Amino acid sequence: MAVSDQFKRPLRDLRISVTDRCNFRCRYCMPAEVFGPDYEYLPREDILDYEEITRLAKVFLSLGVRKLRITGGEPLLRRDLPELISQLSALDGLEDLALTTNGTALAKQAVALKQAGLQRVTVSLDALDADVFAQMNGINASPEKVLEGIEAAKEAGLVIKINSVVQRGVNETEILPLVQYAAEHELIVRFIEYMDTGAAHGWNLEKVVPSNELLEHLKQHFELKPLPQNHPGETSVRYGIADSSAEVGFISSVTQPFCTNCSRARLTADGHLFTCLFAPNGHDIKGLLREGASDDELANRIGEIWGLRSDRYSEIRSQATPSQARPEMSYLGG
Ligand code: GTP
Ligand code: 5AD
Ligand code: SF4
Ligand code: SF4
Repeated sequence: MAVSDQFKRPLRDLRISVTDRCNFRCRYCMPAEVFGPDYEYLPREDILDYEEITRLAKVFLSLGVRKLRITGGEPLLRRDLPELISQLSALDGLEDLALTTNGTALAKQAVALKQAGLQRVTVSLDALDADVFAQMNGINASPEKVLEGIEAAKEAGLVIKINSVVQRGVNETEILPLVQYAAEHELIVRFIEYMDTGAAHGWNLEKVVPSNELLEHLKQHFELKPLPQNHPGETSVRYGIADSSAEVGFISSVTQPFCTNCSRARLTADGHLFTCLFAPNGHDIKGLLREGASDDELANRIGEIWGLRSDRYSEIRSQATPSQARPEMSYLGG
């Protein structure tokens, strides 16, 4: 039975994090000085196995979810991920199955993921310039591997989007080359306003580049046509690039929040349900599952949690809110 929250927002999307680990140390997500050798990741026994994830996904589908996105950390670090994809893609009622990745292991896995039933892949790529990219990913990785991953995903027949987080004074110079790349390869590129997620990276408003500024800049170089929303509550505002199937999107959680129709829930690798990217606490669903709850009992509990939901963090963000407790993005799955 479909459920809705305190603002009548349905539960339509579930983002499932499969690991809180990542091989990158992006400064805006897992800065190396915080996520060093002593950082305590989730213990193995707390991490949901693929059968548990699939069972929960089925329960979420019974509550109205139609879209699943696999996240991390870096989801392709999880062993045999195509096995999970094939279990999920077989679920009744699922309309969209996607994955968000940093792309470094995509060249190896794209074909297996596609064969397992993955429909879409979103690859994070903040810069094409090797120095800027190295500075942002925190491990000196070069963009080549990611570009190979994108190529492989394209060849495998996956629908591709590129995500770039924009930070003032760090990668603004990369916007134009990234859009040129998207136009040449007929891809969708989306620019994300730097957000105050987690507590590790010392966010401040001065580092945010408002999307309108980027749009004005890009309009001087490309003919951009506004495109309609794909669905209510979509994160990005979209523009088509004239004479191409490429698109530019802007995800503006800071300057143009999109909470009004937000239908996204997040399930962490250790089975906690978060009703907002900025919610201070999750709800322990794994506990219930491992105590032997039936599907109906799980559905009732999740429906109850969603029914009480009144989150709209981005709409109430202020100078004071970034200091409030919230989990790291690498744990929550973005
Ligand atoms: P599509 O399914 O292709 O529309 O992807 P998506 O934009 O829903 O997901 P993706 O993983 O590509 O996320 C893009 C950016 O938007 C990331 O920085 C996410 O953290 C951010 N994002 C996704 N959902 C939300 C949300 O509900 N609230 C906020 N504030 N940011 C979000
Ligand atoms: N602000 C905005 N986006 C972020 N991401 C990670 N950390 C942040 C942040 N602080 C993005 C990643 C990826 C997506 C899941 O979230 O680049 O594209
Ligand atoms: Fe890893 Fe993605 Fe976080 Fe970068 S943004 S550290 S790639 S999880
Ligand atoms: Fe949804 Fe929370 Fe993001 Fe608003 S801030 S769009 S409620 S996840």
